Amino acid sequence: MDTIRIHGGRTLSGAIPIAGAKNAALPLMAASLLTDQALHLVNLPRLADIGSMRKLLSTHGVAIENGDASGEVSFNAAAVADTTAPYDLVRRMRASVLVLAPLLARFGRARVSLPGGCAIGTRPIDLHLAALSRLGADIDLADGYVEARAPGGLTGADFEFPAVSVGATENAMMGASLARGETVLRNAAREPEVVDLGRCLIAMGAKIEGLGGGTLQIQGVDRLHGARHSVIPDRIEAGSYAIAAAMTGGDVTLEGADPVALEALIDALRRSGVAIEVSATGLRVRAPGGKTGGMELVTRPYPGFPTDLQAQMMSLTAIAAGTSRITETIFENRFMHVPELLRMGADIRVAGATALIRGVARLKGAEVMATDLRASVSLILAALVAEGETVVNRVYHLDRGYERIEAKLAACGADIERTPAPS
Ligand code: EPZ
Repeated sequence: MDTIRIHGGRTLSGAIPIAGAKNAALPLMAASLLTDQALHLVNLPRLADIGSMRKLLSTHGVAIENGDASGEVSFNAAAVADTTAPYDLVRRMRASVLVLAPLLARFGRARVSLPGGCAIGTRPIDLHLAALSRLGADIDLADGYVEARAPGGLTGADFEFPAVSVGATENAMMGASLARGETVLRNAAREPEVVDLGRCLIAMGAKIEGLGGGTLQIQGVDRLHGARHSVIPDRIEAGSYAIAAAMTGGDVTLEGADPVALEALIDALRRSGVAIEVSATGLRVRAPGGKTGGMELVTRPYPGFPTDLQAQMMSLTAIAAGTSRITETIFENRFMHVPELLRMGADIRVAGATALIRGVARLKGAEVMATDLRASVSLILAALVAEGETVVNRVYHLDRGYERIEAKLAACGADIERTPAPS
């Protein structure tokens, strides 16, 4: 397993190109199953999770070809033969569950392994199954698999999500696109990645209204056709680097970042003293002369503060001038970065879903362990400002969501290098 070594204390300055959004690309790739024509996706990021989804789609029989431009891939599901998503693939990436509705809607059946939990929580899929049942699917759970059947196709319905769920909204929207009649989805997720999927489905012939709001109205159609769609920029990658710039006292331009999708973060950073300019090319982040101030943060579904930037903000508050309080309301176990930050000298106390952070003068480099995707990047950020050397182990977590992180940070002046595991 590779490790990353960082010597802290460098100020970041320069430009970082922002890649396509992982959490938009994954549902967009699954949407290729909804048609027998080619779906061309552009601006796909080069990430481990994208590779996992390609592998899963190939097992279903989707023909996948790299395009000429970088990040361009075409997917053709004309010859899908197998509607089973096997445990061995689904357990590696829970977003695999996004093939459930497309397989069910197009072929009338799907057998998808239950994803199982992960480091940040049990992460059930009951909301996905409740929505698809409402659309007329017969759902059984057997041998750790979801067996879903809709031999006569899905039927439009009015369904209210008891809780906001990004993935369940995405599955329901894909299922409803090919259902008979109208579907209304209430308390739907509003994340930019959900909107991006909706826009791609519309380009494929779906009839969806209300994207970006909490209620989606979908008129089912008999079939969807191919399309060409460009993936939106990754707001979580951009946000992670914005926080890095703020922490190191730097001046960094995030090329291609979408300021609208980052409003909650921009607001929090500005309130703590960080200067942020929106430009035609993206976002320019300049740290205050001194330290950022303490803050109060509560994670919420979009447009609230994103849970996927919670760990990164905890690293920022660990060295802020003052006390901060961060409350995680989306996942039940998303403070795995705390023990590692404590080993770097942070002053953090956790009580249930709330962490109280007292800013310290400096963190100290240490050998630390990555546990999940966003926790691992929070350790990289802490290492950038820590005294001395930090070694981050198990960086395969990072590769799931950050393309070439060491190259992007080194290009802005960080003293960072990746050492391959001894073979
Ligand atoms: C998506 O996960 C993202 N992943 C996550 O990003 C992100 O943290 C999350 O949305 C919230 O924004 C992808 O898009 C691939 P949810 P998802 O369904 O869809 C509970 C990252 O780091 N829930 O909105 O799985 C669930 O346990 C990843 O890039 C149910 O109880 O999230 C959680 O507590 C991590 N039953 C809450 O709802 C369900 O059927 C929100 O989950 C579904 C979810």
